[in-house]
Amino acid sequence: MNMKLLQFEMHGDERGNLIALEQYTDIPFEMKRIYYIFDTLSDVRRGFHAHKELKQLIICIKGSCKIFLDDGYEKEIVELNSCAEGLYIYSPIWREMFDFSDDAVLIVIASGYYEEKDYIRNYDEFLDYLEGE
Ligand code: TYD
Repeated sequence: MNMKLLQFEMHGDERGNLIALEQYTDIPFEMKRIYYIFDTLSDVRRGFHAHKELKQLIICIKGSCKIFLDDGYEKEIVELNSCAEGLYIYSPIWREMFDFSDDAVLIVIASGYYEEKDYIRNYDEFLDYLEGE
């Protein structure tokens, strides 16, 4: 599947931990937007879309959650539970987020501004889009 789990360098010492992410070094694209998802109820499933062009790096900086990924051929569930790990999605992949822990905070770094026309929110349209690519 066209996604990668990236590992970030931890700068830890007796005072605690620190992770720094730099554009192009750790974030593999020019970033335009950051948003975060928090206070999500554990029985909530969200996402249910794919993006045509947008690249995203998804980091669960606190708690944990699962992400169901489907590229039209393969399906996979990735658990994010470490702030030193980021899920990099760079091609049209259907995603659904679920199983949020109470304290889960998901930070998403995106390559583009919020644009509804980049979203595919219907699964059958997603499969049609892949056919046409
Ligand atoms: P939504 O796309 O439903 O989130 P998810 O894919 O995680 O289920 O977004 C929720 C609301 O937030 C919706 O009204 C659109 C708005 N929104 C923005 O205004 N800017 C953004 O960058 C994002 C991601 C969402």
